[in-house]
Amino acid sequence: MSVKPNPLTTPAVLFVCLGNICRSPLAEAAFRVEVEKSGLAVAVDSAGTGDWHIGRAPDTRAQAVAQRNGLDISGYRARQVTADDFRRFTHVIALDESNLTNLRALMPADGIAELSLLLDHVAGREGQPVADPYYGDEAGFDITWADVTEGARALAARLARGA
Ligand code: 4NP
Repeated sequence: MSVKPNPLTTPAVLFVCLGNICRSPLAEAAFRVEVEKSGLAVAVDSAGTGDWHIGRAPDTRAQAVAQRNGLDISGYRARQVTADDFRRFTHVIALDESNLTNLRALMPADGIAELSLLLDHVAGREGQPVADPYYGDEAGFDITWADVTEGARALAARLARGA
């Protein structure tokens, strides 16, 4: 007997940063790995609150850190968060507090998404941001990768528990 996933109970996770070219595509890529490992049925995407980079591939430094970790994110394209995202995604996950504040303001009255910070899902790191690496150097992207991987693992474990 095959069991179809219930669209109302299947989690759908959207990662959101400012530009959708550095942190949220990396969070998306790291989380896709965890979802695949765990066999979870989860829809995954990422977006930015800003519109400057719509349609662009991830920052070359983000593509490079993904590549160093065995992942190709060159096909990702930046998009901006829409009101409908809050109806389609069960979890809208901000990378930092400023993104979260913007998301709270954008959330429509009939939105169903749970809003949180990525690192809220990591025991002992609640409330912490994934720092914006855009104006920094290449090494900052390794820190971003470590942070998004830790958050992605914790979030996947939570969803696997049905929590
Ligand atoms: P992201 O990084 O929010 O992690 O994608 C940034 C990308 C672009 C800009 C700022 C942050 N920007 O100012 O264009």
